[in-house]
Amino acid sequence: MAQPMIGVIGGSGVYQIEGLADAEWRHVDTPWGAPSDAILTGLLDGIAMAFLPRHGRGHVHAPSEVPFRANIDALKRLGVTDVLAVSACGSFREEMAPGDFVVVDQYIDRTFARAKSFFGTGCVAHVAFSHPTCARLSEAAAQAGTAAGVRVHRGGTYLAMEGPQFSTLAESRLYREVWGADVIGMTGMPEAKLAREAELCYASVAMVTDYDCWHPGHDAVDVAAVIRTLTQNSANARTLVARLPAHLGDRPAACPCGCDRALEHAIMTAPNK
Ligand code: ADE
Repeated sequence: MAQPMIGVIGGSGVYQIEGLADAEWRHVDTPWGAPSDAILTGLLDGIAMAFLPRHGRGHVHAPSEVPFRANIDALKRLGVTDVLAVSACGSFREEMAPGDFVVVDQYIDRTFARAKSFFGTGCVAHVAFSHPTCARLSEAAAQAGTAAGVRVHRGGTYLAMEGPQFSTLAESRLYREVWGADVIGMTGMPEAKLAREAELCYASVAMVTDYDCWHPGHDAVDVAAVIRTLTQNSANARTLVARLPAHLGDRPAACPCGCDRALEHAIMTAPNK
C-alpha cells in the first residue's frame, strides 16, 4: 500500500480548492504545450493534492480549446496517481435533477475537433476502454459526495459533445431516447481517454446544472440557467474534494481495475522502430 497523489480537474465554477497546507501554484511545461493554467499543489489531510482548473482561472479556454493532453501530462509529471474530474452537465433524466452529482461510468464521444491520443505516427497504441473510469476511485468519490450532503447517482452515461453551442431539440431527444445517455457535457472527452493512456486512475463527477432542452417542464438551457445552479454545485464540489482523501485511503500495490497497467498490452509498434 502507498499513499495516492490526488489530481483534481475543476470544471465550470470550480477554479480553486481551499484548505491546502503548503499551497503553491506551479507552472508545469509539457511536450504538448502548457496546461490550462498553473497547478495548485499542497497537502490535504496529509495527502498530496494537485488542482488544475480545466478552463483556466477566469474561464478562458472554450471546451474545444482545452489543452487536454498537456493537462493530463502535467498531472502525471507531478506524480498524480488518481484524477478526479469535476464538470458541469445537463441531465436527460427526470431523477437526475439540477444540484445532483452523477458519478459517470460510461461515455459516448461525439467530439470531433480535439487531439485524442498521446500516440500516433512512430508509436501506435490501442488501450482497452470498455470500462472508462476507475471503479475504486469512483466509489470513493461517490462516498465523499454523499458525506458532503449531495444527492449522488452512482453510474451514468455521459454524452460528450463538441459545443460550444448547446444541443438542438432533435439532438437532445436522440441522445436521451435512442442512445440512452444520462447526462451531457462538453469536456468529459478526450480527457478520460488520455487519462487511461497515461495509466492514471480516473473518475468523473458530473454536476447537474440543467435539463438541457428535452424537458417539457423546463426552459431550454442557457448560460444564465447553468450559472444559477453552478454556485451551489461548486461549493458542494469543494466539500466533496475535501472529503475525498478520507474515503480513498491508501493506494493498493496495483489498481484492481488495471488502470495503472493500461499500456501493458496496448502498444503495436515494434520496440526497435
Ligand atoms: N454543461 C452544462 N449543461 C450542459 C448542457 N445542457 N449541454 C452541454 N453542456 C452542458
